[in-house]
Amino acid sequence: MSAEPLEIHLEEQDLARGLRDDVRVGLTADPKWLPPKWFYDARGSELFEEITRLPEYYPTRAERAVLAARAPAVAELTRAKTLIELGSGSSEKTRLLLDALTRRGGLGTFVPLDVSASALLGSTTQIAADYPGLRVRGIVGDFTRHLDRLPTGGRRLVLFLGGTIGNLLPAERAAFLTGMRAALEAGDWLLIGTDLVKDPSIIVPAYDDAAGVTAEFNRNVLRVVNRELGGDFDPAAFTHVARWDATHEWIEMRLRADRPMRVRIADLDLDVTFAAGEELRTEVSAKFRPEGVAAELAAAGFVHRAFWTDPDALFGVTLARAA
Ligand code: SAH
Ligand code: AVI
Repeated sequence: MSAEPLEIHLEEQDLARGLRDDVRVGLTADPKWLPPKWFYDARGSELFEEITRLPEYYPTRAERAVLAARAPAVAELTRAKTLIELGSGSSEKTRLLLDALTRRGGLGTFVPLDVSASALLGSTTQIAADYPGLRVRGIVGDFTRHLDRLPTGGRRLVLFLGGTIGNLLPAERAAFLTGMRAALEAGDWLLIGTDLVKDPSIIVPAYDDAAGVTAEFNRNVLRVVNRELGGDFDPAAFTHVARWDATHEWIEMRLRADRPMRVRIADLDLDVTFAAGEELRTEVSAKFRPEGVAAELAAAGFVHRAFWTDPDALFGVTLARAA
């Protein structure tokens, strides 16, 4: 079966409006910040894929190891008919679950959802070609806003892989999990990947690689603002910063202004000044403890069924069921 045309729940105008609002709020705040979802235009999605292949970036390899070992158990426990994936990106690791679920029999539909239309177009085309008989329905949408648009009925398994839940702030995370539970029916499943707390000497290099790919990914958000909103950021004048916050147990990515700057965002009629050394926060990437994940899921109305890690206990994957 070929992939169905992408369902667009985020039109160009919605995206543009969301970006305008976020840029106005974030760049006039003190300290300045931008939400990480704006990294992912076509170039940002490619850069993320490049990050996943870096020697320092362990999360993708570790999560793949967990899925390779546990996908048959997930298929057996969930017997999913519909597989939904949030923030699906390339859906590369998802193939391990598609393989296990199709081998078991009963999987009919795969529904990846992502803000990045380019990533979705690539993944849905490839997956439809490689899994004949599977219905592939890609949705361009925002998982913080469009959970009510997910397909209903059948035995559903929702995947949220990669540790992307860690890119939400704690209050956003609680709202996301509650919204996720509300979008599901009792008995539906959630499989969620979380990067685990560990020695910062392992975590920090994963966000500050020697080849500078993460730095380019970080600066990409400035390019998106320039292109979409008529900004005149000079990305080369910002230094990539990745800092471990031991209190919150998260990595913060920031962009530090190398010199004083005045940036014009023409479409917002906004001038933003940066002092030399001033930092703009572009992402948090929270790291989790198993008991914390279990507590957050329980608070949102999920029953914990399994928790698995890779052999080095770098990354955790939790299977939970809507109560
Ligand atoms: N799940 C993949 C990709 C992780 S990268 C993996 O494990 O490798 C994060 C993905 O989430 C990107 O593809 C990005 O476009 C998407 N994303 C980020 N914020 C989003 C949002 N608010 N709604 C939908 N997708 C989002
Ligand atoms: C998508 N997300 C889980 C990645 C992370 O590790 O927080 C995004 C990323 N940021 C820097 N490198 C990768």
